[in-house]
Amino acid sequence: MLELHDCEQCTACDLALTRQRVVISRGAASARLMLIGEAPGAREDALGQPFVGRSGQLLDRLLLEVGLNPEKDLYICNVVKCRPPQNRRPKRGELTACRPWLDRQIDLVDPAVIVLLGATAVDSLLGIKTGMTQLRGQWLSWNGRSVMPIFHPSYLLRNPSTAADAPTALTRADLTAVQQRLCER
Ligand code: URA
Ligand code: SF4
Repeated sequence: MLELHDCEQCTACDLALTRQRVVISRGAASARLMLIGEAPGAREDALGQPFVGRSGQLLDRLLLEVGLNPEKDLYICNVVKCRPPQNRRPKRGELTACRPWLDRQIDLVDPAVIVLLGATAVDSLLGIKTGMTQLRGQWLSWNGRSVMPIFHPSYLLRNPSTAADAPTALTRADLTAVQQRLCER
C-alpha cells in the first residue's frame, strides 16, 4: 500500500529535480470537503504547504466568508505535488506520474464533496477539457462524490472586478452552494 508520507521522497517525474519541498496538503484529513488545485507555486515550494501564497490567501478569505474554516472544514491539495519551474502548467506525464498520490489522498480523506480549482484540476481528475466559464458552478458526479469545478483563485487575482457577475462574485456563489451541499449530505 502506498503510504502518503513516502511522497516526500518521490522521484517519479522530473519536477523532483527542481523542487525545494514536496507539497502534500493543508487542513483536516477528517473533513468531508476536499479542494484540489493545480501545483505548488514559489511560496508553497518554500514552505511545504499548498495555497499559502497570494491565491491561497484569497481562497481562504472566500472560504471564511461562506462559513468554511480552512483549517477544520476541508482538506486542500494539488494534482501535482512539486513546483513546475517558472510556474508553468504541469505536463501530461507529470500529471500521470503524480496521480497515484492524489488517488491515495482521495482514499484517505474519502470526501463527500470535491471542489476542483481551475482547468488543470478538472482535466486531470475527470478528463474534461471544457472551459471553466461553462463548467464552473455545475454539480458533477464522480465515484459517488459530488464534484464542483470553480475558477482558480489566481484567475480571480488577474480579474479583480467586484461586479455582481464578475469571477470573484461567481466563485463566492459557487462556494456558498458547496457549503449548502455539505449541510444537506
Ligand atoms: N496554485 C495552486 O494551484 N496550488 C497552490 O498550492 C498554489 C497556487
Ligand atoms: Fe513525484 Fe508528483 Fe513530485 Fe513528480 S510531482 S516527483 S510524481 S511527487
